[in-house]
Amino acid sequence: MGSPPTAEDRPLAIAGGRPQRDEYLVFGQPLVEQPEIDEVVDSMRARWLGTGPKVARFEQMVADYVGVPHGRALNSCTAGLQLSLLAAGVGPGDEVITTPLTFAATVNAILHTGATPVLADIDRHTQNIDPQRIVDAITPRTKVLMPVHMAGRPCDMDAILAIAAEHGLLVIDDAAHAIGAEYHGRRVGSLADASVFSFYATKNIVTGEGGMVTTTRQDWAEMIETYALHGLSRGAWQRYSDDGFRHYGVVLPGYKFNMMDLQAAIGLHQFPRLEAWRDHRDRIWEAYDEAFADLPLSVPAPVEADTRHARHLYTVQIDLDGLSRDRDWIQEALHHENIGTGVHFIAVHRHPWYAQHMPWVEGQFPEAEHVSDRTLSLPLGAAVTDADVADVITAVRRVVLAARGGGS
Ligand SMILES: Cc1ncc(COP(=O)(O)O)c(C=O)c1O
Repeated sequence: MGSPPTAEDRPLAIAGGRPQRDEYLVFGQPLVEQPEIDEVVDSMRARWLGTGPKVARFEQMVADYVGVPHGRALNSCTAGLQLSLLAAGVGPGDEVITTPLTFAATVNAILHTGATPVLADIDRHTQNIDPQRIVDAITPRTKVLMPVHMAGRPCDMDAILAIAAEHGLLVIDDAAHAIGAEYHGRRVGSLADASVFSFYATKNIVTGEGGMVTTTRQDWAEMIETYALHGLSRGAWQRYSDDGFRHYGVVLPGYKFNMMDLQAAIGLHQFPRLEAWRDHRDRIWEAYDEAFADLPLSVPAPVEADTRHARHLYTVQIDLDGLSRDRDWIQEALHHENIGTGVHFIAVHRHPWYAQHMPWVEGQFPEAEHVSDRTLSLPLGAAVTDADVADVITAVRRVVLAARGGGS
């Protein structure tokens, strides 16, 4: 007599079975609670919607937290990356070294300054840029290093800062994933010439769209503020507040990248919950690590001592040799189980525009390509409940075990 069927034996939804859950678990959904709703309503009632006192308070809150004097809030991290590069004096003819395992925004921000992005491969175990590959990529045109703290795991900043010092380079870290991360006892956001956070809707702290540059450099902070609002010598808040109207001068051709008070209103109440939400993310992380230990997947390697992961993304690497299905099939099967997942990332050089316009070729960044083929991000966040975690664990186990046997 065979053993009785277990929950893991029942047919997958992709093969016509009943989905793991009835309600779709949307990947990366933020937790939005009453205090931020009230604060947004307060801004609307006060009829001060654009950049104003709430943005200033939010900037101070984040700068104080990371331990630097200046925070400049913008409408995205992408804008912050671009403006930090402009503050660094980057332009046509310069090269900026970054990672192939990142979102398009990192590379686009470099391109929009007229500079050339140069990719240096990652270490597949940390998924962060490999300092040795940075050294290999340096040329006389290199001006800035732009590491990305992938998934919230701090890069090897000691090595990166030492390389920058030795070669006279600036460092602007893409900290889109890394609010709350610490490296050797210091908060990410205080380690480089400038750091740029994202508060996009899926991030650990959200403002809808939004980002912030943190820096110790007052001149950069001032330049970023000016660039972010058309290049005006003073912002709308200073021009139109009850202090009376003041004339402005356009001191450079700027952009329209400023954050609104409506957005900062959300951030002001999200931010104080950062630590509690990170603890919640920690618990989910541990539950996943334990539940997937026997599956043909590798779970994220622990961080080094004295370093804290921001726990932005929980990414498993699918062991393609141990399975007869690929990552995309597993993702599709989970989608049928009503579980949304993400892919962070398809390596930059594989996207059509870069493949066509940049000198990068398949095979050039084997470590990033390895991750790009195998990585899958599972639901992790303040809004993910214990019941959601149980569903994800059961569904991932069923789908991966089915993928081992041919998948149905
Ligand atoms: C690594 C990385 N850099 C930059 C960005 C851009 O952030 P934003 O959407 O706030 O511009 C993202 C967005 O997800 C990202 O993942």
